[in-house]
Amino acid sequence: MLALNNIEVVYDGVILVLRGVSLFAEEGCITTLLGANGAGKTTTLKAISGLLRSERGEVTKGTIELDGERLDRLPPHDVVKRGVTQVFEGRRVFENLTVEENLVAGAHTRSDFARVREGIGRVYDVFPPLKERRQPERRLVEEIFGIVRRLREEQRLTVLLVEQNAALALDIADHGYVMENGRIVLEGPAATLRQNSDIKEFYLGLNEAGARKSYRDVKHYKRRKRWLS
Ligand SMILES: Nc1ncnc2c1ncn2[C@@H]1O[C@H](COP(=O)(O)OP(=O)(O)OP(=O)(O)O)[C@@H](O)[C@H]1O
Ligand SMILES: [Mg+2]
Repeated sequence: MLALNNIEVVYDGVILVLRGVSLFAEEGCITTLLGANGAGKTTTLKAISGLLRSERGEVTKGTIELDGERLDRLPPHDVVKRGVTQVFEGRRVFENLTVEENLVAGAHTRSDFARVREGIGRVYDVFPPLKERRQPERRLVEEIFGIVRRLREEQRLTVLLVEQNAALALDIADHGYVMENGRIVLEGPAATLRQNSDIKEFYLGLNEAGARKSYRDVKHYKRRKRWLS
C-alpha cells in the first residue's frame, strides 16, 4: 500500500543521504526499518510524511506512493489527510500543555469537535496510562508495542516502525529492512531476519551460541562491520 520506489533524498541541495531506497509497507502489516545511527531511517520517514522540506531536504529521484497515488509532491497536511501519520521519536509533545491538550492539538486536521472528543476517548481506551497521566516508565516501549500490535490486528493498521531496539522491533514486525548509509542492504520476513547471523551480531549483540556479547565487543564490531562495500 505504501511504496517507496528508488528514492533519493538530498539535504541543502548537495548532501545526498538516501541513495535509491525502495521499500514497501503492506496494508495491515508492521514493517520495521533498522539501521545504525545516521543510516537514514528518520530521513526516510520524513520523506514519507513530507516533513523533509522544513529541513531543506528534498526527494530528488524516485516516487512515494500510497495505493498508487503520489505522496512525494504533497504538503505534509495533505499527506496526513490521506491517513499517513509520522509519530515522532522522543518527546515531541508540547511540554506546556496537558496530555489532553496535546491530544486536541494532534487532532487539528479535524474540524468536528464531537469527533475529536470521540477520538480522544478511543486513545484513552487503548492507552489507559495516558488517562491516568502516569509518568512514562521504562517498560512503556513494550506496552506501546503491544498496543501497536493490537491495532494492527483489530484495525488493520499499517505501520512502518523505526526503533532502536532491534530485538523488540523484529519481535512485533512482519517484515523488515536494514538500511546502511542511505541504502537498503538487507530485507526479509522479520522471522528470517531474527535468525540472520549478521543481524544477531550487529543489532542484537548476540554471538553464534546466542549469548549476549559485551557492549565493547559489539561497539568494536560495529566500527568494522559494513554490510556492503
Ligand atoms: N537536516 C539535515 N541536513 C543535513 N543533513 C542531515 C539532516 N538531517 C539528517 N542529515 C544527515 O543525514 C544522514 C541520515 O540521518 P538520519 O537522521 O536520517 O539517520 P537515522 O538513521 O535516523 O539515525 P539515528 O539512528 O541516529 O536516528 C546523517 O548523515 C545526517 O547527518
Ligand atoms: Mg533517526
